[in-house]
Amino acid sequence: MSDGSLKVLGIAGSLRKGSFNAAALRAAQELAPTGMTIDIFDIATIPLYNEDVKAEGFPPAVADLRARIKAADGLLFATPEYNYSISGVLKNTIDWASRPPEQPFDGKPIALIGASGGALGTARAQYHLRQMFIFLNGHVLNRPEVMIGAGASKFDAEGRLTDQPTRDILGTLLTAFRAWIEKLR
Ligand SMILES: Cc1cc2nc3c(=O)[nH]c(=O)nc-3n(C[C@H](O)[C@H](O)[C@H](O)COP(=O)(O)O)c2cc1C
Repeated sequence: MSDGSLKVLGIAGSLRKGSFNAAALRAAQELAPTGMTIDIFDIATIPLYNEDVKAEGFPPAVADLRARIKAADGLLFATPEYNYSISGVLKNTIDWASRPPEQPFDGKPIALIGASGGALGTARAQYHLRQMFIFLNGHVLNRPEVMIGAGASKFDAEGRLTDQPTRDILGTLLTAFRAWIEKLR
C-alpha cells in the first residue's frame, strides 16, 4: 500500500479557459484516492518547439516542466481530440519535454483521460498518445479507459464535472493508477 506520498503531475492539452480537459483534471484532483495528490502543470508557458532554441538550452518553462516530470511518481494526461489526434499544443509540450539528455518519460507511470465534444470522447487521440509513449517508454495504464464524450453535457458552466458515471469511472481509474505506480516502483 501507499505511504501517502504519491505525487502525480496532471497535464491538460488545451489552453482555453473553459477547457473540458482542464476541468477533468480538476475533478481528478477532487477524486484522487488516499495516498495520491495531483498537481497541475499549465502548458500555456511552453514555447513552440525550435531546435535552434534547444541548442542554446531548454527555455525556463520547459526546464521547469522536465524537472516536475522527473520528480513526479506518475503523470496524468487529459487530452482533447483535434482532427482525430491530440492537440498541437500537447504534442508540442511532449516534444519539448522529450528531448535529451535524460528523457523524462522513460519508465514513468502514465494514465490517460480525455474529453471532447464528439461522441467518442477522444478515443482516437488517446490511442495516438499511447503510441507516442511506446517510443518514449512511458508505462501507460491500460484500463479503465476514461473517454468523456459529449463534453457539454458532462460539465456545468463553472467547469465542474457533474456527470456521476463519469466521476465514478475517473475515480476508478485513479485508484487503478495508484496501484499501477506502486507495482512499477
Ligand atoms: C481544431 C479542432 C479539431 C477538432 N477535432 C475534433 C475531433 O476530431 N474529434 C472530436 O471529438 N472533437 C473535435 N473537436 C472539438 C473538441 O472536442 C472540443 O473543442 C473540445 O472542447 C476540446 O477540448 P477542451 O474543451 O479541453 O478545449 C475539435 C476542435 C478543434 C478546435
